[in-house]
Amino acid sequence: MTALRSVVLGCGSYLPQRILTNAELAARIDTSDEWIVQRTGIRQRHIAAEGEFTSHLAINAARAALADAGIDAQSIDLIVLGTSTPDNTFPATAVAVQAALGIHHGAAFDLQAVCSGFIFALSTADNFLKTGAFKRALVIGAETFSRILDWNDRGTCVLFGDGAGAVILEAQEQPGEPGDRGILTTHLRSDGRHKAKLYVDGGPSSTRTVGYLRMEGREVFKHAVGMITDVIYDAFKATGTTAEDIDWFVPHQANKRIIDASAHKLHIAPQKVVLTVDLHGNTSAASIPLALSVAVKDGRVKKGDLVLLEAMGGGFTWGSALVRW
Ligand code: UT7
Repeated sequence: MTALRSVVLGCGSYLPQRILTNAELAARIDTSDEWIVQRTGIRQRHIAAEGEFTSHLAINAARAALADAGIDAQSIDLIVLGTSTPDNTFPATAVAVQAALGIHHGAAFDLQAVCSGFIFALSTADNFLKTGAFKRALVIGAETFSRILDWNDRGTCVLFGDGAGAVILEAQEQPGEPGDRGILTTHLRSDGRHKAKLYVDGGPSSTRTVGYLRMEGREVFKHAVGMITDVIYDAFKATGTTAEDIDWFVPHQANKRIIDASAHKLHIAPQKVVLTVDLHGNTSAASIPLALSVAVKDGRVKKGDLVLLEAMGGGFTWGSALVRW
């Protein structure tokens, strides 16, 4: 029996021009390039310019994805944008993207699941496409975490960066077999008991301020690998696949040690792991589509490849997606 699947038509990304190196951070606060590289794998991150907003990064990534797909923006009828750093409290940053692309039909909204934002957005768009409610979706992860960092807190400010990535999905009739192209399965989880371990200490309803990111890094670390691998086992179980079948593992880029430990536990070979955390830092919801874009552009991820995505972050939220490119 045939199945309606969300097939990836293209992807694109955008990074702000300004690169902030570990050495520059070490000149400002009590840290070192050695500590940051050893504990996280991060060497540099990109920082949005004054006046450069999350929407600007998202629009650039969206245009790159449209160009990669070779389609007209007018054919997009759904925009789902994962972000925790919107331009404004409201309206959604997604409508700024919609307006900039000259799209006046369909629907556009933001989705907030912190570092899992892209997986949650991808899953949401997938479910809308599979029901036939929309035909072509633009799924974006875009962040300017530099704006919510306490630049005096060495435990957090060295970890994050700014950027955006986007994919275009189209509802397509597929044979309904494991070899189908498109999103084969997604698995989303959250557990609010952990909400105080990674949060922003401000907000419109609580403090009427934006606030700064606060994190108990060690606590997040402790849960990360277990949560990540749990939802990946769910993806394997739902599709009858194993780690052997995976061509590319494109994880959320928070910390190289978390990525290495997850891949090791899953028995995914290191050469199948796409790593960009060294160059981008943790860009929250943007990290997966940024990494995907790099691996598509350099020819690693090709049509027909089985690509495993995962993320874990504030909330906690976590999730996985298995996609045949
Ligand atoms: O996107 C999802 C959310 N984020 C994550 O997944 C992050 C998860 N957590 C982590 O990646 C790690 O916990 C960190 C990279 C944040 C920290 O690494 P760690 O190995 O867990 O270090 P730690 O927090 O246990 O700190 C070890 C030491 C401490 O000093 P003492 O108490 O041992 O004297 C810290 O004060 O390292 C110190 N430290 C630093 N030293 C130099 C913390 N930050 C820094 C720094 N430079 N930037």
